[in-house]
Amino acid sequence: MKGIVFTEFLELVESKFGLETVDEIIEKSDLPSQGAYTSIGTYAFSEMLSLITNLSEKTKISVNDLLHAYGLHFFSVIERDYPAILKSYNDPMELLSSVESHIHVEVRKIYPDAELPRFEIADKTENSLTLIYYSSRSMYAFAHGLMEKTFDYYGASPSITYTTLKDDGSEVKFVILRNE
Ligand code: HEM
Repeated sequence: MKGIVFTEFLELVESKFGLETVDEIIEKSDLPSQGAYTSIGTYAFSEMLSLITNLSEKTKISVNDLLHAYGLHFFSVIERDYPAILKSYNDPMELLSSVESHIHVEVRKIYPDAELPRFEIADKTENSLTLIYYSSRSMYAFAHGLMEKTFDYYGASPSITYTTLKDDGSEVKFVILRNE
């Protein structure tokens, strides 16, 4: 997992819960990196899992709720660092249906070792999109937050529902509807 995912996560934790919480979850997580991340480095996904599990235990907020909040925040990171990719779309549905075929393809050119999910378009109309999320990292709640902020970015509001197709969250079906 790319360092930017760790550095932005720890900054968000610091701003919401304070530096002591950052130190505490790093301490508890027993990390090979010792919690010293650079945005261009690459680290084991298991480090993120430990950090977020420890944060969940400390704050009593579920891992999924934390991932969802992180997804909402991460969209602003994308806006800051990759504005050109966002500007190449003028519609949230078009953007979301291009994550697999274009956006993450570009991300992989920047970071050849990125660990990205797969999104399959199961159905698409002008005002609806059904996407199947596949990833061994089960970060679908993070995806959910990014999808909501994608609509926000265009001043639109969606109805997004999801169903886990596998109990471990590695396959999740999203139904995204555009509200008029
Ligand atoms: C992961 C970039 C849009 C879903 C990532 C990562 C990067 C990235 C750098 C981390 C990869 C790693 O740590 O190895 C971008 C950029 C985007 C974009 C630049 C737009 C310009 C989206 C959107 C969605 C999405 C709109 C949701 C539909 C995800 C998910 C992950 C991820 C769920 C976590 C990894 C996983 O679940 O396996 N993306 N992304 N991304 N992205 Fe994107």
